[in-house]
Amino acid sequence: MGDRLNLIQQEALASIEQAKDSNVLEEIRIKYLGKKGELTQFLRGMGKLPPSERPIMGQLVNKTRRSIESALTRKNEAIERESLIKRLKDETIDVTLPGEKPQLGGLHPLTKVLNKITDIFFGMGFNVAEGPEVELDYYNFEALNIPKNHPARDTQDTFYINENVLLRTHTSPAQIRVMEQQQPPIKIIVPGRVYRSDAVDATHSPIFYQIEGLVIDKNITMGDLKGVLDIFIKRMFGERTRTRFRPHHFPFTEPSAEMDANCTACEGRGCRICSNTGWIEILGAGMVHPKVLEYGNIDPNDYTGFAFGMGLDRITNLVYGIDDIRLLYENDIRFLRQF
Ligand code: PHE
Repeated sequence: MGDRLNLIQQEALASIEQAKDSNVLEEIRIKYLGKKGELTQFLRGMGKLPPSERPIMGQLVNKTRRSIESALTRKNEAIERESLIKRLKDETIDVTLPGEKPQLGGLHPLTKVLNKITDIFFGMGFNVAEGPEVELDYYNFEALNIPKNHPARDTQDTFYINENVLLRTHTSPAQIRVMEQQQPPIKIIVPGRVYRSDAVDATHSPIFYQIEGLVIDKNITMGDLKGVLDIFIKRMFGERTRTRFRPHHFPFTEPSAEMDANCTACEGRGCRICSNTGWIEILGAGMVHPKVLEYGNIDPNDYTGFAFGMGLDRITNLVYGIDDIRLLYENDIRFLRQF
């Protein structure tokens, strides 16, 4: 019986030695030490031995069990150590590899300049209003004192959708829409897209942006208009920038003016950007025509107001020194990345 025990032990130790993972080890443990395992069977068979031999045999069996158990434990530890070493090797991170920068988007230059303009007018107590791009002839022309057959219609080559509906040629129709909805005091700017049937070149685009301004209250004067616009220009282009007003004509303002700022590129000395005049035209403005107030249901005997309209593209080009309006609409990523 001792020989058989020896055989079992040798066999068990040999297969433990060859085991490659902990599953195999577990199978070996069950095979030898489990309830139906070989060693357990062996113990059961001991009942047939004469009582005097049993204690010695029992001790031998226990010794064999302990040696198999400790071999299992040692092998298990070895396998775990090996797999840890392998995992550490597999998961090595090379911290010296160059990193990959995530690509960040940015705001379009038109959006950046619009945000700045909006901030400046917020600072003076203005709110933002909006109007539709597909507009009625009534709001775009009629209520702005530009009746059918008025020559001013010819200066704005209009995309008509039908006789009464068009793509707005300026943001001024929002003046009437705001007046219809709001009682004075009114103090708003209206940024938005406008359309004119112009051929594309460095200074023209059939789609561009305007920002309208409208202030209506008691005792508003031309002085208020000049003050607000002068502050705007100084905050936009710098405290040293000067402005001037030239008489002009718009059917919806009276009196009307165009406002220039002195050229920021040459500081007024004269250069290519300002066509050697030292001045750059920035916007059109004037006192809201009494007829326009009436169209907006506001009594011109009680209220006066001023309005202005500027091209966002023109101002953006001035801010960044861009000399071709097309760049703003082509969305060439090499151009846009510069902002
Ligand atoms: N709507 C005019 C234009 O597009 C600009 C303007 C607005 C002039 C408000 C006076 C008052 O040219």
